[in-house]
Amino acid sequence: MLNIQDVHTYYGESYILQGVSLEVKPGQVVALLGRNGVGKSTLARSIMGLTPARSGRIVFKDQDITRMPAHLIARAGVGYVPQGRQVFKSLTIRENLQVTARGEGQWSFDKVLQLFPNLGSRIRSLAGKLSGGEQQMLAAGRALVGNPGLLLMDEPTEGLAPLIVRELGRTIESLKQAGTSILLIEQQLNFALRYADIVFIMNKGAIVHSCTPAELAADSATKAKYLGV
Ligand SMILES: Nc1ncnc2c1ncn2[C@@H]1O[C@H](COP(=O)(O)OP(=O)(O)O)[C@@H](O)[C@H]1O
Ligand SMILES: [Mg+2]
Repeated sequence: MLNIQDVHTYYGESYILQGVSLEVKPGQVVALLGRNGVGKSTLARSIMGLTPARSGRIVFKDQDITRMPAHLIARAGVGYVPQGRQVFKSLTIRENLQVTARGEGQWSFDKVLQLFPNLGSRIRSLAGKLSGGEQQMLAAGRALVGNPGLLLMDEPTEGLAPLIVRELGRTIESLKQAGTSILLIEQQLNFALRYADIVFIMNKGAIVHSCTPAELAADSATKAKYLGV
C-alpha cells in the first residue's frame, strides 16, 4: 500500500529525516510513535509532498509519489489529517467537506455524515464554531470524502477529552473494518496500542524499533528509552 524507502528530508539546511524506511500493508493500521520533535510530522509532510524528500523513494499502490505535487498525491488516494486539524474555520462544515469530495467511492458525503452525526446535525455551522473534538471529526471527514486508500492521521487525539478520544477510536475501528489502511502518528501510547496492528518508533529522524503492540506494551526498556514512559 505504502512503501517508504530510505527517505531523507530537510527544512533548508536542517537535516530532519535521516533515512526513514517503513511499510503500511493493505488494511493495516500502523502506529508511528516517538517523542516530540523526532520528525513524525515531517514524515507525514514528505509522504504528502508538502516537504518532499530530498532522496529516497515513496511508493503508494505501485506509483512513485516521491516528487509528485501534493494535490496529485491526494488525488491518487492518500488522505491527510494534519496535526492541529487545520480545518477551514471561516467555511461551514458542508463547505469544508466539499473542498475535498472526490468521485465515486464508499465514502459519500452522506456516509461521512452518518459516521459523524454531530457534524450532520450542524452542516451549516462555521467550522470555527465547533469544539476541538468536532473539528477533529471534520478533519477526518474531509480526508474521507476524498475516498482515500490510505489515511495519514497526525496526532488526532491531541487536545481531545477522553470521551471524544473513545469516539475517535471507534471511528478508526470502522475505517479499518471498511478496509482503509491507516498510518497513525500518536503521542498517546495506549491509544496507539489499542488500534494498531504494528508499531514503529522514530528517534532523531530514523526508525529505531518496530514490533507488535503487545510486544511494546511489555517492553519497559524501549518505552523508557524512546517514549519517555
Ligand atoms: N517548517 C519547519 N522549518 C524548520 N524546521 C522545522 C519545521 N517544522 C519542523 N521543524 C523541525 O523539524 C524537527 C522535526 O519536527 P516534526 O516533524 O514536527 O516532529 P514531530 O512531529 O515528531 O514532533 C524539529 O526539530 C522541528 O523543530
Ligand atoms: Mg508532529
